Amino acid sequence: MPQTLSPILERPAVAKARAPRPLTVAIVGATGAVGAELIACLERRAFPVGELRLLASPRSAGRTLTFQGAPVTVQALDEASFEGVDVAFFSAGASLSRRYGPVAVAAGAWVVDNSSAFRMDADTPLVVPEVNAWRLGEAPGRLVANPNCVAAIAAVVLAPLHARRLIVRLVGSTYQAASGAGAAAMAELRDSTAAALAGEAYRPQVLAHPYAFNLFSHDAEVDPETGYNGEELKVMAELRKLLAAPDLPASFTCIRVPVLRAHAMALTVRFAEPVSVEEARAWLSEAAGVRVVDDREANHFPMPGEASGADDVLVGRIRTDLSDPSGRSLSLFIAGDQLLKGAALNAVQIAEALVAAGEV
Ligand code: A2P
Repeated sequence: MPQTLSPILERPAVAKARAPRPLTVAIVGATGAVGAELIACLERRAFPVGELRLLASPRSAGRTLTFQGAPVTVQALDEASFEGVDVAFFSAGASLSRRYGPVAVAAGAWVVDNSSAFRMDADTPLVVPEVNAWRLGEAPGRLVANPNCVAAIAAVVLAPLHARRLIVRLVGSTYQAASGAGAAAMAELRDSTAAALAGEAYRPQVLAHPYAFNLFSHDAEVDPETGYNGEELKVMAELRKLLAAPDLPASFTCIRVPVLRAHAMALTVRFAEPVSVEEARAWLSEAAGVRVVDDREANHFPMPGEASGADDVLVGRIRTDLSDPSGRSLSLFIAGDQLLKGAALNAVQIAEALVAAGEV
C-alpha cells in the first residue's frame, strides 16, 4: 500500500462530540433546504448546542423555526451576527460565504462552509471525516470546506478502495436530485409534477427546463472549451483533492433527475492492480459511512428512495468492468442522501471531529 494513502485506513472513528461547555452555533442559510437538515442533524446527533443562532436574508427575519422543541427566531445576517459564536455553518451560496466567512473567523468562530467558495484553496482543508479527518489539523484559518454533494458521496465509497488499490482512472455519470439546487427546486419538482398530472401547463421558474417526467444536463454553466459543465469540473477537482490524487484522470457527466433528495451515480473505476468483486465488497462492507446493497438474486441495488433520510451511502452493482480485460476495473452504483452526507450531516460530522480534537 502506498504510504501516503495509509491514513485512510488508520482514520479515527468519528466520536460523538463532547464539548467542555455548551457551544454557540450559527447557521447561515437556516431557512434553506440544507439549513433545515443542519438544524435536524444538530438535534438528532445531540451536538452540544448552548445557543443556536439562525441566520438568513432580511426576508426571513422574524420567522420562527424549532430546535429541541423550542422556537428560535430567524435573524437577518449582518456583520455583527457572529459575536460569541463558536461554530458557524454556512449554506447560503458562495458569494455570502466569501463575504461573511472571514467575518465569522475574525469574530473567533470555526467556519464549516458548504459552498464552493474556498474548497479548492490550497490552505483550506476539504473534508469528509471518514476519508481525511486528519486534514482538520491543517486548517490554520479555522475554516473548513464541506465538499460538493456528489464528491462527498462518491469519496466515502472510493476512499476505502483507493486505500487498498491505487485508483488510476475514474469515470462517472450522475443522477442528481432536486435538493442540490435548493428548496425552491424541490418545490418546482413537486409543483410541476402536480401540474403535469392535472394536465395543466407549468412554466419552469427555478430550473431551465421542464422537470416533471424529464431529466436534463446539470444547470451549471458549460465551459466552452472542454464542454464540461461547472458541476462536473467541481466534482472531478474535489475528488482529486479528497483522495489526495492530484493527477487522477477523471471524467464525469452530471444529470439532474426528477428525484427529491438523494443523488445516485454510476462509477467505473480503474485500479493500478487487479481487484476482485469479493475483495471490493469486503472492503466496502467494513468501511465507515457505507452500506453494501448488492443483492443480484433479488435485483436489489442502491436506490434514491432507500438512500433518502439515511446517513450511510449505499453501494451495489459491484462488478468487474468487462470492457477492461486486465481485471483492473470495477463498475459500481451508488446512492446517497444529498442533504445529509452530501451536505448537512457531513458538515456536522466535521464540527464533531473539531470538538473531539479539542479545537472548538
Ligand atoms: P431566505 O430564505 O431568507 O432567502 P436554498 O439553498 O434552499 O435555496 O437556501 C438558501 C438559503 O440562503 C436560505 O436560507 C436563504 O434565506 C439564504 N439566503 C439567501 N440570500 C441571503 C442573504 N442575502 N443573506 C442571508 N441569507 C441568505
